Amino acid sequence: MSVKSTHSLDNVIVTGGLGFIGKHFVRRCLGLGCVVRNIDKVSYAADLMTKAEFENHPNYRLMQADIADIDYLPESDVIVNFAAESHVDNAITSNRKFCETNFLGVQNLLELVRCKQQLERPLFVQISTDEVYGDIYVGQHSESDILVPSNPYSATKAAADMLVKSWGRTYGIEWNILRPTNNYGEHQYPEKLIPKSLWRMKRGQLALLHGDGSYVRSWLHAEDTVDAILAVIENGERNSIYNAGGATELENIEVLRAIAGHLGVPENEAWQTTEDRLGQDVRYSLDDGRLQALGWKPARQFHDELPVIIDSFDFKRFA
Ligand SMILES: NC(=O)c1ccc[n+]([C@@H]2O[C@H](COP(=O)([O-])OP(=O)(O)OC[C@H]3O[C@@H](n4cnc5c(N)ncnc54)[C@H](O)[C@@H]3O)[C@@H](O)[C@H]2O)c1
Repeated sequence: MSVKSTHSLDNVIVTGGLGFIGKHFVRRCLGLGCVVRNIDKVSYAADLMTKAEFENHPNYRLMQADIADIDYLPESDVIVNFAAESHVDNAITSNRKFCETNFLGVQNLLELVRCKQQLERPLFVQISTDEVYGDIYVGQHSESDILVPSNPYSATKAAADMLVKSWGRTYGIEWNILRPTNNYGEHQYPEKLIPKSLWRMKRGQLALLHGDGSYVRSWLHAEDTVDAILAVIENGERNSIYNAGGATELENIEVLRAIAGHLGVPENEAWQTTEDRLGQDVRYSLDDGRLQALGWKPARQFHDELPVIIDSFDFKRFA
């Protein structure tokens, strides 16, 4: 059953709040005056400069821990679960950690919510991904489409969505799932397409392009994702799923062309093609009409933001 209920945002638990999207969310919540507890194991993907930035904020506490191992959740109004192993290439090489964090970590968090008295249970917001649907050559995926994940990363994320829905139905926890498209923004760990390509081109190396570069991704700024999460928490229908689509669909080769253009690197010195990723998804695209009906829409433009991202890139942020 879908219900509408209000949850205040005074006390927030964030997991993975030192990661790329999580840190944008934590910074926004602190700016809004929320008390934020961040459960993050500080993996290779954690941003150490952001860790230092948040540390002295009076409303912020870091619990350095693994979401799959913790046995206690502090009181909160909302828990937003960003923590994940998030890189598809890593999942293809070695997938165990993906199962442990993305699946068992979510199971553990849900159990910790379930163990609380009904009135003390926070709203559980799971940050999922467009990749759970698999690819779509034409048209857009809507929230009711079946999940056909293509690789171990997206399979663990799809499995986590199933856990969340079933804990809602069986145990009555309140939840929302947000499925954003590819995020871009400042200070992303340099394993994903934009920061990795940028890092290589800046050092005079060729960026690496899977296949012929024609794979299409829909790009959503991390701050627009933060807006989407807040819209769902504030106005969303409980126990339901929201897609969040980027306003800009681009072939991967177009993304590299834009980076090379900004850096002034000639295209023939900017990238080389490599073997296709195993299980490669051809195109992702989401219908986010439900979320737009809450008043949300992406506010940032990819081609305006890319120069900001390039100019602020700093590899020293990561261990
Ligand atoms: N980046 C994207 O383009 C994108 C797009 C759609 C959905 N998502 C989803 O958004 C979420 C955040 O993605 P991101 O790109 O910010 O990830 P990220 O890899 O940049 O950061 C992950 C964070 O989680 C922490 N972490 C990892 N395993 C943990 C564990 N077991 N316990 C506690 N903390 C742990 C890491 O230390 C890190 O701070 C993920 O759930 C991801 O699936 C990401």
